Amino acid sequence: MHDATKKRWAWGRIHGAIAVPKGLLAAALVLAGWAAACEGCKATKPVKTQDITPATPTARLVLLSDLGAALEPCGCVADQRGGLARLGAFTEGNPFPVAVAAAGPTFFDCVDLDTSRAAQDTEKAQAVAGVLARTPFFFAPSRSDFAGGVERLRELVNTSRGKAVSGALTVAGQAFGAPGVVDMGPTKVAFLGYSGRSRDASVADVAGVQFGAEGGADGAALAKNVETLRAAGARFVVLLASGSRGEAQRIVDRAPGIDLLLVGTDAVRGEVIRDDVPLGRIEHTVVLQPASRLQSVVVVELVDRGGVFREGGLAEEGSRFSVRTEPMGAARAKSQGIGAILSAYDERLDGQNRVRYAGRVPVSVAAGEAHYLGVDVCTGCHTEPASVWRGTRHADAYATLTTRHKAFDLDCVGCHVTGYDKPGGSTVTHAKNLENVQCESCHGPGSKHVEGGGLKSAIVRKPDVAVCTGCHHEPHVDKSWRVEDAWPKILGHGHGRP
Ligand code: HEC
Ligand code: HEC
Ligand code: HEC
Ligand code: HEC
Repeated sequence: MHDATKKRWAWGRIHGAIAVPKGLLAAALVLAGWAAACEGCKATKPVKTQDITPATPTARLVLLSDLGAALEPCGCVADQRGGLARLGAFTEGNPFPVAVAAAGPTFFDCVDLDTSRAAQDTEKAQAVAGVLARTPFFFAPSRSDFAGGVERLRELVNTSRGKAVSGALTVAGQAFGAPGVVDMGPTKVAFLGYSGRSRDASVADVAGVQFGAEGGADGAALAKNVETLRAAGARFVVLLASGSRGEAQRIVDRAPGIDLLLVGTDAVRGEVIRDDVPLGRIEHTVVLQPASRLQSVVVVELVDRGGVFREGGLAEEGSRFSVRTEPMGAARAKSQGIGAILSAYDERLDGQNRVRYAGRVPVSVAAGEAHYLGVDVCTGCHTEPASVWRGTRHADAYATLTTRHKAFDLDCVGCHVTGYDKPGGSTVTHAKNLENVQCESCHGPGSKHVEGGGLKSAIVRKPDVAVCTGCHHEPHVDKSWRVEDAWPKILGHGHGRP
């Protein structure tokens, strides 16, 4: 106790002795620059010391929750948030060490791989791992991370050169992870994990995998781990928790030495985005849960001046850490290196999917039902609607994908073609004549209508608005998108108008 106080005091002195001359130098530079920029100004603005001597961090942690393999925003709307390339804005080119830590689904979003797209989702998970390999990485596996099985997850962890840190998570009775300790500049930072069982009864168990049980012994075990790690020199302790926020908070209650708790869930469940949860505090522990799918990250910066870390401004006395939520908006710089990994993934997937899904032919039509014909047939009798349609973006929707190597991406193609996965319609590899959002996307398959020489009863005159919202929904449209506003834009003389 006495020693610790003495050490802190000594550090304060050393810090002060360096900070003064640096501060004066900085002040002189700032004033010189200011005067040059503002010639003729009479008043000299007082310069606050804290503004011009920001403490340089000694380390930075970048924390993500529920990434859900969201590599990059789809691009359907301008200025979408998210995208792994923007992580680089925080992880690259810094004079201090940086680590990335994640809770909640990281490599996969859904809890089980859908067989129709397992190959693509596995490839995508590898791309995620390739990006994460660029920075020291720690995570608490969620139920979703086991979507491809235990061995697949081990491979992904290897590729990411990261560390699964949930000690209580076992596979065939053996611990799957262990606490991770990393030297970040002067500070030993420890990462521990808690991976809880899904509370959703419909989520099946993974054979041999035992998740932490709520209210179980995990909290006590973790508390012990924290003590051991502290005794071994860990000065900053982070708990990554995938599962129930309540249980994670109960663990913190039982394990007082945790500086940060990062919370994630067991599964992302599709494209739905969860917003930032405001920062919480339990005694000295700061509780974080940034928005899912990389809409935000939490950036934590440490200034190590010895002794105990406390949350606060980095320029304040003693060892400090600051916490801020950073939205991953369009203004954020993108890393070229990460961008290259993502482009390589797009190109690789484009090539692979053409081959691996080549046999995926359209579902056949039930006897007596109509199939899709394509716009060229309709144009033969409906020249005016066709020329109106050609003026809409629906007519170029496929080129939007081909120019980006995305036409064979299962995440994209469905809404940029006609009759996708419908009987007598298109598939990812069989979209000939049905490329773009054509007439039959809205009016339904037209073969019976045409066979009947324009049989009115065999075609939909006025599509339901649900047809539009089947493709026009978030995140592929802006929050402010209204079908009433969009509806008139696709009509014109001879197409729904005199
Ligand atoms: C659920 C349906 C849906 C899916 C899936 C989808 N899109 Fe879109 N996309 C849309 C809609 C709707 C628009 C028009 C949005 C608007 O302008 O309001 C659009 C627009 C776009 C645009 C903008 C085109 C322009 O001219 O400005 C791009 C680029 C795009 N999508 C690319 C993609 C990519 C890449 C993917 C896959 C990662 C994808 N889309 C998946 C529905 C979808
Ligand atoms: C052989 C000529 C022909 C072709 C090809 C054709 N139609 Fe028609 N379509 C007609 C005729 C004729 C009408 C009825 C016009 C009327 O009586 O007002 C009609 C009416 C329609 C209507 C309005 C139905 C209603 O209840 O008023 C829609 C929508 C339509 N067609 C869509 C299509 C689409 C989509 C295609 C392509 C798959 C297509 N048509 C191909 C001849 C054709
Ligand atoms: C099969 C999916 C699909 C359906 C169904 C669909 N759209 Fe679209 N829509 C798209 C895509 C994809 C784009 C963007 C195309 C591009 O630029 O690449 C788009 C673009 C648009 C645009 C231009 C962008 C904008 O918002 O100003 C309008 C308007 C529009 N759609 C209205 C509608 C309306 C109204 C309906 C229903 C009557 C509808 N769409 C049905 C997929 C669809
Ligand atoms: C994005 C959806 C969409 C697409 C694509 C589309 N239509 Fe329509 N169509 C509509 C809507 C909406 C109406 C108006 C229905 C109403 O108000 O009664 C309409 C009306 C019509 C009518 C009825 C005649 C009229 O003038 O009212 C015909 C015929 C028609 N469309 C043919 C076509 C053909 C042919 C194509 C392709 C070249 C096409 N449509 C593409 C949505 C679409």
